Amino acid sequence: MNESTKLINTAHCPDTIGGKPLNTVNPPLFQGSTVLFECCEDMQRAQSGQYGGVTYGTDRLPTQRSFEDALRDIEGGHLCRAFQSGISAITHTLMAFTRSGDHILVCENVYGPTARFCDQVLSKFNVQSTYVPSAVGVDIVDFIRPETRVVFLESPGSNTFEIQDIPAVVEVARSRGILTVIDNTWATPLYLKPFELGVDVSIQSVTKYICGHSDVLLGAVTVGERWAEQFARYYKTLEIFAAPGDCYLALRGLKTLAVRLKRHEQSALRIAQWLETCDLVGRVMHPALPSHPQHDLWRRDFSGSSGLFAFTFKEDWPQARIAAFVDALDLFGIGFSWGGFKSLVTAGQYRRPAGSPYAGKTVIRLNIGLEDPEDLIADLKKGFAAAGAAGQSSSS
Ligand SMILES: Cc1ncc(COP(=O)(O)O)c(C=O)c1O
Repeated sequence: MNESTKLINTAHCPDTIGGKPLNTVNPPLFQGSTVLFECCEDMQRAQSGQYGGVTYGTDRLPTQRSFEDALRDIEGGHLCRAFQSGISAITHTLMAFTRSGDHILVCENVYGPTARFCDQVLSKFNVQSTYVPSAVGVDIVDFIRPETRVVFLESPGSNTFEIQDIPAVVEVARSRGILTVIDNTWATPLYLKPFELGVDVSIQSVTKYICGHSDVLLGAVTVGERWAEQFARYYKTLEIFAAPGDCYLALRGLKTLAVRLKRHEQSALRIAQWLETCDLVGRVMHPALPSHPQHDLWRRDFSGSSGLFAFTFKEDWPQARIAAFVDALDLFGIGFSWGGFKSLVTAGQYRRPAGSPYAGKTVIRLNIGLEDPEDLIADLKKGFAAAGAAGQSSSS
């Protein structure tokens, strides 16, 4: 069965009323804290961990469970757990699988708050982080220490879009018992299958494509069989849970993910190709363009591309000229996050090593939404015209 069909037919929660089935197309929203027991004995079984059913709201109510199961199936993992945001999913994964004295390897191009967590929080618990090149492959072996426990990948990185050689990293890590984790938000489980490549844990910021409407914060972690029990125990011990209403919206978003993602993909590619022809543009960072440095890896491992990519200007413009470009855009909202139906723009510089083509460069990142791509191109043309005018006025 095609995955788009599978998503439509996932997660049912039928009920009965008056002895007849009540089966809404979307599973109903199940919300609650207290769960009532039928008798004292059941309640006491719950107290001693012998009950077997749901005992409390933090025990993952059916809406959360339906979402987790649907995502687990499409990711191809063994167990999925939802978190209140993508960054919460990331930080809890790192806490669940490390202990004092451990060392982890993290890709240089990870989402900024992931690195901040490693540097400012994990370090307090004596877990040391080393950053490895954004396009790391078998060379990851040079960074491994006896106490290395986790490799954290993000491919492509969501600001400068380098791709890692995932199977090569996995082979090195597996043979040493090191857990591999990937932030799979950009590709979603539709365009990258981390478990087929041997990765142990796949993380989604569900906030992005899965929810798709910029109105929910949610995260999810899917774990392969080998690590599932450890992760489930961690989750249960901390009594983490995700808001049922958010899980409901995520489940609804999953149903239309395939259609939306295809449109994001087509529009982003059209705009990225057009940007490559623009005089003022330097590098366009989009893995599906043949000019991308790891395009061959993308072709080998991914089955599609999504709607987030970036570019640089050919020259190092002063801040005022960059602002003139961004401020002239009408259809692109200026704002963080991505994966939603509305196009967005950000302009920023990212911590990259001296040899990187992006070191010290302003990166313009575009989230291509569901508008008509020709309208978006017309909007970008307005931005370039404004930047051109700003350049002339500053040189005259
Ligand atoms: C690649 C990536 N991972 C994780 C996150 C965090 O997701 P959330 O906003 O749901 O916390 C983001 C947010 O922008 C992101 O870009």
